Amino acid sequence: MRDSDSGLPLRDWIARVQERVEHSLDETIPKAQAIPQRLHAAMRYAVLGGGKRVRPLLVFAAGQVAQARDAVLDRCAVAVELIHAYSLVHDDLPCMDDDVLRRGKPTVHIEFDEATALLVGDALQSLAFETLSRAEAAPAGVLAMVNRLAKASGSEGMAGGQAIDLASVGAMLDRQSLEQMHRLKTGALLSASVMLGALAAGQMSETMAVSLEHYSKAVGLAFQVVDDVLDVETDTATLGKTAGKDAMQHKPTYVSILGLDASKELAEKLRLEARAALTPLGASAGRLAELADFIVLRKH
Ligand code: IPE
Ligand code: IPE
Ligand code: MG
Ligand code: MG
Ligand code: MG
Repeated sequence: MRDSDSGLPLRDWIARVQERVEHSLDETIPKAQAIPQRLHAAMRYAVLGGGKRVRPLLVFAAGQVAQARDAVLDRCAVAVELIHAYSLVHDDLPCMDDDVLRRGKPTVHIEFDEATALLVGDALQSLAFETLSRAEAAPAGVLAMVNRLAKASGSEGMAGGQAIDLASVGAMLDRQSLEQMHRLKTGALLSASVMLGALAAGQMSETMAVSLEHYSKAVGLAFQVVDDVLDVETDTATLGKTAGKDAMQHKPTYVSILGLDASKELAEKLRLEARAALTPLGASAGRLAELADFIVLRKH
């Protein structure tokens, strides 16, 4: 975004990116009048008008470090948010977490139906890669971004983490397995969001790559630790999704395994680790540093 944006308070910068991303998402998803209308209406319902847009925020903040072009960052931001939205639609299905509320609205399978929710996820995933493949950047750079996003979404990323999550219901995971589940189901896509923002510039120094990987892994894990804490500490109205679900469904979480205080301490430790990882990047990483605080200190 413009240089003048760098002086904005974080809250205003976030609002500006959110607005920009909302517009890009609206342009990217076919209109509800386009056939098949019900599927397109459901895709729009799942994606538009809600969510914190944390992954796109990470894309734009990392893009600032690498001085990537906005037009390319727009494509990356849309792609990561579409993958995220797809993961939420499927996560809420009766065969997974069986949730009726998401982003303050009935979940997609409640508002529409289960088969539609399944297809919404399928179609959003394809649309994510279609969008990224159209990024106006050098082909090798686009390929690197597609590769990273695919890896982060598949069985060695989000989908794999979700498989471990489902297989672990009622189980007492050890600390290492719990961390691996969280790093995969949530961390991988957050990490990819940061790296796509930097890859959008077409080149990245070794220092930048190492710093950003380290930062992104710390915020990626912190994000899910905080999600586990919020599930216990925050009310349904604030969350926009049903509070207390993890305990109700006997999910192993950081709170159930480490306890509330130790989980909060870990999130704080990861926040500081993420910030420290940015030191070699200097002032250009200011937004990423602020986003580490935003992710850990958020209330929903
Ligand atoms: C919720 O993600 C699901 C997890 C991966 C923990 P977010 O907290 O980013 O959800 P939205 O996009 O703001 O609704
Ligand atoms: C969701 O984890 C992770 C993904 C959607 C990949 P959760 O199941 O904890 O997310 P919420 O709490 O329903 O948003
Ligand atoms: Mg889940
Ligand atoms: Mg869930
Ligand atoms: Mg949760």
